[in-house]
Amino acid sequence: MKKVNNEGRNTALLTADKTDLSFLDEAIDHALQKVRLNLGQFTHAFPDDTTVDGVYKRRKPFLQDQEEGGNFGWTTSFWTGILWLSYELTEDDEYRKAAEVHVESFKKRIIEKVDCEHHDLGFLYTLSCVSAYKLTGNEEAKDAALRAADYLMTRYFEKAGIIQAWGDLNDPAQRGRIIIDCLMNLPLLYWATEVTGHSKYRDAAIAHANNALKCIVREDASTFHTYYFDPETGTPKYGKTHQGFGDDSCWARGQAWGVYGFPLSYAYTKDPAFMEMAEKLANYFLNRTPKDGVAYWDLLFNDGSGEEKDSSASAIAACGLLEMAKWQSEDEGRRYCYHAAVVILKALYEQYSTKDSSDSNALLLHGVYAKPENLGVDEANLWGDYYYLEGLVRLKTEWQPYW
Ligand code: GLY
Repeated sequence: MKKVNNEGRNTALLTADKTDLSFLDEAIDHALQKVRLNLGQFTHAFPDDTTVDGVYKRRKPFLQDQEEGGNFGWTTSFWTGILWLSYELTEDDEYRKAAEVHVESFKKRIIEKVDCEHHDLGFLYTLSCVSAYKLTGNEEAKDAALRAADYLMTRYFEKAGIIQAWGDLNDPAQRGRIIIDCLMNLPLLYWATEVTGHSKYRDAAIAHANNALKCIVREDASTFHTYYFDPETGTPKYGKTHQGFGDDSCWARGQAWGVYGFPLSYAYTKDPAFMEMAEKLANYFLNRTPKDGVAYWDLLFNDGSGEEKDSSASAIAACGLLEMAKWQSEDEGRRYCYHAAVVILKALYEQYSTKDSSDSNALLLHGVYAKPENLGVDEANLWGDYYYLEGLVRLKTEWQPYW
């Protein structure tokens, strides 16, 4: 296997003596207040990917035939996932009923194949329908999620062992291209094998995760955002960024997808290579997290750079660290992962949440969607809100992942 450097743990986090959960109940109360406020506007319509001036509006169509507030794009399920988390926290049926309206919408979406030509079916159906099935036994949700898993499999190049991320499978600009984010789409496939007994989904997920491990991670444990393979032979070609600063820099959210995605593959396979890699990626991320606990949008940047933070990257990394904490064999590793996650989530609540922004209907400010495209820069975004709440739920309960 390729040798990947391990920088070691972040010593400031390692030596911190106390894990402070005093913020947790207040943070959860605050989040639930915001979610409840959004129920009226966003039960029969979906919010947009990001806020504008801190406020989510109804989702804007980007193609003809799409309706404002419709179920398209890759992020609608984060709002549904927030509803399921809120239901778990409160057992309040208002949240469940709203989430079930969404399940109907996701069922229709996969049957009619509305904006399904990408790998993000994992994000979409894990948080909307696998969650519904796991929490309430909803068989229609299970069926919709399995249809999504089957459709995701149409993007799998078996010889190469990769799932193409974006675009038409014959588009030369996208053919054979994987992106690190896809690690979070794999749990849909692992789950599909668990519930159907058919190994093809899990085999594809393992092959893809191994290729990501081999090629998308660089020797210094930073990551490329995207990587091209020859889809016929599986020959690795080259890495390229899409949302990072440059092809050689490390996009913070991409690294965070790896910090969470590899331990999820470990959870399903128990292959130690996935946990070893997750630890190296986490060290790289935490060693480049500035003093206030929240990363800049590309890990090239630090305090004084004048660049924006991406709160969503740190929220995702916190969830990954909490997943890693579950699987650590030694006490120090468990404590380190748990403690680092708490430091991040506390910083997010105290300095990045909307607790002092009554005009905002989001949970977490100061995220970045895509700086090179000037998209959602220094705004809230749906995935940041989702992972922030998932992190809080993980601290509060023995949470069973939807992933
Ligand atoms: N998965 C797309 C993104 O993180 O922006």
